[in-house]
Amino acid sequence: MNGSKHNPLCSGASPEKVTSDLELLVDFQEQGVSLKELRQMIEERLLPHFMQYDKPEFQSLFNFFPEKAANFGAKIAIDYNQGTTNWQVSPGAVMLEELCCQSLCRLFGLSQEADATFMYCGTYSNQSALYLALHWTAEQHGFDFAKKGIQGFEDPTRLVAITSREAHFSLKHALRIMGLGEQSLVTLPVDENYRIDIKNIEEILKELQDIYDVFCFVATAGTTSSGSVDPILPIVKICKEAGIWFHVDGAYGLAYSLVPEKRHLFSGIEQADSITWDPHKQFGVPIPNSLLFVRRREDLYRSAVYGDYWNRREDPEPNPGLKSPPSTRPLSALPLVTSIRYLGMEKIIQRLHAPLVAIKTVYENFLHSQAIELCHEPDLGILCFRVTPEGFPKKQLDQLQQSVYDKTKVEGKRSISLTKIDNKIVLRLVIINEDITAEDIMETISYIRALANEF
Ligand SMILES: Cc1ncc(COP(=O)(O)O)c(C=O)c1O
Repeated sequence: MNGSKHNPLCSGASPEKVTSDLELLVDFQEQGVSLKELRQMIEERLLPHFMQYDKPEFQSLFNFFPEKAANFGAKIAIDYNQGTTNWQVSPGAVMLEELCCQSLCRLFGLSQEADATFMYCGTYSNQSALYLALHWTAEQHGFDFAKKGIQGFEDPTRLVAITSREAHFSLKHALRIMGLGEQSLVTLPVDENYRIDIKNIEEILKELQDIYDVFCFVATAGTTSSGSVDPILPIVKICKEAGIWFHVDGAYGLAYSLVPEKRHLFSGIEQADSITWDPHKQFGVPIPNSLLFVRRREDLYRSAVYGDYWNRREDPEPNPGLKSPPSTRPLSALPLVTSIRYLGMEKIIQRLHAPLVAIKTVYENFLHSQAIELCHEPDLGILCFRVTPEGFPKKQLDQLQQSVYDKTKVEGKRSISLTKIDNKIVLRLVIINEDITAEDIMETISYIRALANEF
C-alpha cells in the first residue's frame, strides 16, 4: 500500500477549485515547456485531485491500483506502442493476444471451441455480445444481419433482449446504438437477493415469446449495485430449449468463478453463448481492459469486416482485428499476461478471496443490528445497506443516505458509493483490494454512523 492511512483519499475540492488548478495545464501556448516544469505542474495541480485507489479507505468502486507486474507489462506495451490488429502490425503482439485468449478460455473452464477477443471495456463487450446475438438470430430467420441489418426482420419492433432489472445500463447503450432503442429491453423481477427470480421463468419466457421476438437473454454474474449472481444454470437450459442466445455479463463477477468457494454460483457458465469480463476491475491491470468470450469460435467472426489493404480475407495468419470492431487495437493482453505469470494462480485466488471474506464478516456482524439495515446477503465483494439511527424518521432515510454520501465526498477521508435498490437510496461498499480487512470496513461503517448522527 502506498501512503499513510491518515492522509485524505482525495482533495475533496469543489469543481470550481479543481478547474482553477487545472486551467494552467490546458493553456496551450506557442512555446513548449520542459518536462521538469510539466512534472511540477502535474504534481502540484493534478495529483492532489486524484483518487488514491490503493488506500484501505477506498471502498466505493471497482477501480484498483495497478498490480506491479501488470504495470511492468503495460509499460512495455506503451514503450513499443504495439498494435494488435493483424500480423502486419505486430506478429508478436498478435500471437500473444491469440494465445492469451486461448489460455483464458481454459482458465475459466470453457470448451476447446471457445475463443475470446480483447475489448476496450465491459460496455463495448456487452454491445458486441448483443450484436452477435442479433446476427445469430437473423441467421435462424434465414438472412445475413451484417448486410440487411434490422430491416431484415419481418417486424423489428418485436425484437427484445431480456435481462434482470438490476442489469448494467450498458445494455441500454447497446440497444440505443443498434437502433433498437431502450424500449427493446425487457427487465425481469428479482428475488430478495437481487438475482433474477426464476420462479415461473419458463412460463414468463413463453408469454414474452408470444408477444416479442426475444433475441438475447442476459444474465449478470455480479450485478453492479449488489454483486448478485443470477442463477445461470437454469437460465442456460431454458435459453437452449427456447433457441435464444444467452449472454452472461460477468464484467465484475467472472473473476470470482476462479475462487473454489464461489464456483457453484457460476455453474453452467461454460454453456453461455457469450460472456463479458473486465480484468481491469479486480485483476489490477491498467484500465481499460476487457474481454468478450464466445462458446463457438466462429461466432466472433460475425463481426468481421474485410478490407483490401488491411484485414484481408485471404491473409493466412491470425487476425484479432477480425474478431471485434476496433481497427487500431492496443496490446491489452501483455499486462494481463505479465501479472498472471508473476503472481501465479494460487496468489491470484487468495487476492480474490480475501475481500469476499471481509465483506461476509461485516455482513454477519450487522445481521442483528438496529443501526444498520442490510439490503441483501452478499454473493461477492459488495455490500449495500442503510444507516438507520434510532428514532430517525423513516420517511427521511433516503435523504439521510444521500447527505452522508455527500459529506464523505467533501471530507475526502473515506470513499463509499451510493445506489438505488428497490427504489430506496442505499449506501454501497465495494471491496476489491485484498489488503482491506473486515476491521477497515467496520471503521468505515463507524465513520458513516458518526456522520449520520450529525443530521
Ligand atoms: C455488471 C457490469 N457490466 C458492465 C459494466 C460496464 O463495464 P465498463 O465500465 O468496463 O464499461 C459494469 C461496470 O461497472 C458492470 O458492473
